[in-house]
Amino acid sequence: MTSFPKSAQHDVSRSLDLYDQAGELIPGWTQLISRRADQFAHGASPIYAQSSKGSRFIDVDENEYIDWNNAVSAIILGHADEVVDAAVKEQIDRGSLFSANSPLEIELAEELNDTIPSSQMVRYAKGGGDACAIAVRIARGTTGKDKILFCGYHGWHDWYQAANFGVDPESGEYPFAGIEPIGVPKALEGTVIPFVYGDLEMLDSLLDEHAGEVAAIMMEPARSELPPPGYLEAVKLLAADHGIVLIFDEVSCGWRIAVGGVQEAVGVTPDMTVVAKAMSNGYPMGAVVGSRDVMEPAKHMFISSSYWSDNIGLAASLTTIRELKRRESPRRFREIGEKLRSALNQAIEDSGLDGACTGLHTGPTVTLNTPEDVDPRKVSTLFIQEMARRGVHSYMSFKATLAHTDEDIRLTGEAAAEALQVVRSGLDQGNIDDLLTVNLKKEPFRRQVR
Ligand SMILES: Cc1ncc(COP(=O)(O)O)c(C=O)c1O
Repeated sequence: MTSFPKSAQHDVSRSLDLYDQAGELIPGWTQLISRRADQFAHGASPIYAQSSKGSRFIDVDENEYIDWNNAVSAIILGHADEVVDAAVKEQIDRGSLFSANSPLEIELAEELNDTIPSSQMVRYAKGGGDACAIAVRIARGTTGKDKILFCGYHGWHDWYQAANFGVDPESGEYPFAGIEPIGVPKALEGTVIPFVYGDLEMLDSLLDEHAGEVAAIMMEPARSELPPPGYLEAVKLLAADHGIVLIFDEVSCGWRIAVGGVQEAVGVTPDMTVVAKAMSNGYPMGAVVGSRDVMEPAKHMFISSSYWSDNIGLAASLTTIRELKRRESPRRFREIGEKLRSALNQAIEDSGLDGACTGLHTGPTVTLNTPEDVDPRKVSTLFIQEMARRGVHSYMSFKATLAHTDEDIRLTGEAAAEALQVVRSGLDQGNIDDLLTVNLKKEPFRRQVR
């Protein structure tokens, strides 16, 4: 029998045992750093799950949670969506990987062309980092230039992680505290250069400084807010003036705000776009799409891998995109995001704490302003701990799926109100350390921008 955790009896001991075991068998415990226990409240948050359905999952200790993490936003329709899973099961019965090619590759390319404004030609991958590496290869191959200017997070590959050679290890500015570019060839230093989102002057002067050497500007077109008016238009003009490829990485920001991504929502079309994660509702998939001019030269480049032809991701992606359209997803995401933001703001206001839930409706984020003498990590860890003990799983930011209901939002608001009361009393009494029953959460993941 599973049940929502009641704070007094909340037990994640099986998760903690498995995590200890993983530490002996898997270097770094998990496959994605954002899944490590130290990204949540290690000691209270669930670390291992046994099943998930809709907006909920059940951990290995039989606790049920409302899930606002959704596999770091890869789940968009809801866990184990019946329509997508039926398409996948049917495809499994017909073969997951053929010796010949699947017509699904063409069908999905047409669907992407109909959906993403910048899409005229398409290449596939199995994840976001993979797809970013393909986009960079194509941009370098098409322009004959090597350097990449970037803004945001673009995966684990050498081309991108080489940017960390420019980071002072003491500055604390690595994307994940304590994780360094070990194993990345030093020879790549200087080939990939960060710029600050929104700072056009900086981008302009970097383009002058590296004139004639830059293949592409790679950027996430939006983060927690919509881009400042005119910003993306100006970046596009700069790229065109310098004859370089503009790539939007919509791996995280795509699909929810509009099915065609941020570019559809704001009306600015790049030369190339990278998509992954939510495009297939939990099945491995990624794609690079772009204009014919930029993409076509890729036929002469070595971009090739056995499982990029896998039928499961293709079938899952086709069905997910069609379902997003059929279920009027942008309207529903706005509704869910706005209701959730106001429930969390109400909880913050009732607690009397200084803070707010802000940001785009696609990822409302709770910020709590702490007194100067209190470590903000203690406050965020305590909040996540208390939310976990009440059956809500999230970071400080929340990603919805179409499966989230008004009842999920109501329960989340109730849990937040109680959790924030605990935070408030810890601050008032000066006993946050006594209330924390877990290890302190690591700094949140930082998108490298400088
Ligand atoms: C913007 C962006 N690009 C690329 C990636 C890498 O994707 P993946 O983890 O599927 O390799 C991520 C993952 O979080 C991302 O947010």
